[in-house]
Amino acid sequence: MPKARVLAVRVLAKDAEMVRTLLLDRGVLRTDYKITRVGEYVLLPVHSQSANVLNADVLNLDLEKGQEHPPELASKMGQKHPPELASKMGQEPPPWLASRIGQGLQQGSGLGQELELELELELGLGLELELEQELEQELGLKLELVHHDMESLEKPPGDYRKLLPENLFSPGLHNKLPSSFDMVGDIIVLKLTDELIDFGLDIGMALLETHAGAKTVLLDKGVMGEFRVRDLTQLAGVQKTDTIHKEYGLRIHVDLAMAYFSPRLATEHRAVAQQVKLGEVVLDMFAGIGPFALHIEKEGKAGKVVALDINPAAIELLNMSMVGNGLHGIMPVIGDARSCLKNAPVFDRVIMNLPHGAYSFIDIGLELLKPGGVLHYHAIVEDQSIGADQVIYVARDSGKRAVVLDVREVRSYSPTLGHYSFDIVVD
Ligand SMILES: C[S@@+](CC[C@H](N)C(=O)[O-])C[C@H]1O[C@@H](n2cnc3c(N)ncnc32)[C@H](O)[C@@H]1O
Repeated sequence: MPKARVLAVRVLAKDAEMVRTLLLDRGVLRTDYKITRVGEYVLLPVHSQSANVLNADVLNLDLEKGQEHPPELASKMGQKHPPELASKMGQEPPPWLASRIGQGLQQGSGLGQELELELELELGLGLELELEQELEQELGLKLELVHHDMESLEKPPGDYRKLLPENLFSPGLHNKLPSSFDMVGDIIVLKLTDELIDFGLDIGMALLETHAGAKTVLLDKGVMGEFRVRDLTQLAGVQKTDTIHKEYGLRIHVDLAMAYFSPRLATEHRAVAQQVKLGEVVLDMFAGIGPFALHIEKEGKAGKVVALDINPAAIELLNMSMVGNGLHGIMPVIGDARSCLKNAPVFDRVIMNLPHGAYSFIDIGLELLKPGGVLHYHAIVEDQSIGADQVIYVARDSGKRAVVLDVREVRSYSPTLGHYSFDIVVD
């Protein structure tokens, strides 16, 4: 398990159980770090609000060295909390939030300076003072706080929104925190409304805290351009956009800043792959990083799979996944579906997953299909009948008959639009 430097109460081993119970009762004991024995002492990890607020940057106090509180703070420490703040005292923000409050104090951010100082006292010194009093006066023990590298235990699963206090936000905004987001490998990708963007760091840190496997949180501002690549901003964690995403046993190389990928298509990738019959020749016209092709190849029935994409980075990622999964029967091609398929042979199955634009490629898809072949057509439309008609009418214009075998709603796109996939047989 990884270690991290955390704040801990140091007590003699003989007193450890009594103090542990007290800290637990008070909600101060951290359960995400392992209680550690060091010689005759036991270190009990505690929430670091007080340390964050009291740390060198803000108040120049090094707890490990046991320095006294500087004189200018001593008077503040004795102050009574004003009644209007009493309600806030029970709410302990997570550590990163406490440090943000500390930063806010230095930088004079949004909160009024007075409120920030009050919060600092509430969340930091107040907590320490009360503990000190309880331990020293009632139990005759000296409170010793130290920083120590402690072993991290599994992060608790949970709703990240519970870690973000409502009073961090303007009224009503907490309710607008997104309840869902995508997990791509070890990267969390989420969308935020404009009014929540200023809280990106807090939201990102809360997500990392509640999702043990996540290393990075990225803000998704939508897919753009011909390559359909996401416009991303890093919110928290390690700076990276590449990862390996596991999908039904496949290890797919993803770089969200370089090529399109959505984990929401996993079921669709597999549904199509499972339809492929022995020896079929398949074309994926807008393959992206190739998940359809990889699934089909993994099923092991196709004679040949051609994966075409105009984005060279997407094809490079597909190559990496082919190597990583030992799947060598795919033919990756970089090119424009409009120009490079002119003299291509015909296929048993053509996948057209360009939901915003596949409409203008239907004629090409139909030309490349053997009689009786299947088109997997994607469209973002209000109603599924609209998407089906798009293919049926283009087929009719070229003297062919298109019959819809199945329709799936891949995902809901907006309150009025859905992303549908159509299995269409064309004679
Ligand atoms: C929605 S993404 C594909 C997603 C992929 N099928 C998957 O399941 O992850 C659409 C892809 O079409 C590619 N594309 C766009 N226009 C193209 C064109 N004219 N020819 C070939 N590929 C194109 C983009 O680069 C992008 O990777």
